[in-house]
Amino acid sequence: MKRYVILISGRGSNMEAIFAAGLSGQCAAVISNRPDAAGLAHAAARGITTVALDHRAFADRAAFDAALAAEIDRHAPDLVVLAGFMRVLGESFVRRYQGRMFNIHPSLLPCFPGLCTHEAALAAGVKLHGATVHFVTPVLDDGPIVIQAAVPVLPDDSAETLAARVLAQEHVIYPRAVRWFLEGRLRLVDGRVQLDGETQASGALIAPAA
Ligand code: GRF
Repeated sequence: MKRYVILISGRGSNMEAIFAAGLSGQCAAVISNRPDAAGLAHAAARGITTVALDHRAFADRAAFDAALAAEIDRHAPDLVVLAGFMRVLGESFVRRYQGRMFNIHPSLLPCFPGLCTHEAALAAGVKLHGATVHFVTPVLDDGPIVIQAAVPVLPDDSAETLAARVLAQEHVIYPRAVRWFLEGRLRLVDGRVQLDGETQASGALIAPAA
């Protein structure tokens, strides 16, 4: 059975969605850089090993990355799942997990990398917004796209209503991407995503207007 580790910094709703999907792999640990992350308690309540690794206790990014990699490797995961993990990871850390580390980002990448994506989408006046699961590369919020979900932007949307519509779709696409990987059907080949046994359209989900 394949093993995965989830990295969080906050509430962990994507983590919960992955657990709720009843995947066949084993979550070996949930690690947070914030000891007060609400998601840690939810994972512990499920009997999953939790680890708090406070980035503020380390002299610099490299020292934190090294400790994080050592902790991850202790659990020998096949896949590392960044689920609302709000620390930028250094290049050597990212290379170590190349082809076996996912991130979820609340926009249709390559639009709106970085923070405040919902505000940016409203300011740009886009009619479609959404979320992306991608393999992690050293460039922030970049990397080969595994699956995207698009949602409509409605005329009276606020950043909060739009974020909620996007989050509901994050909870659909992240478990799906993790399942594909754990089933051994998804891989990175020469920087491109290869998915067995699905049509091309499986990576694109269009949510109807609510
Ligand atoms: C999500 O919107 C995710 O896309 C972003 O951070 C948020 C994390 O939410 N990277 P949660 O902790 O999974 O509830």
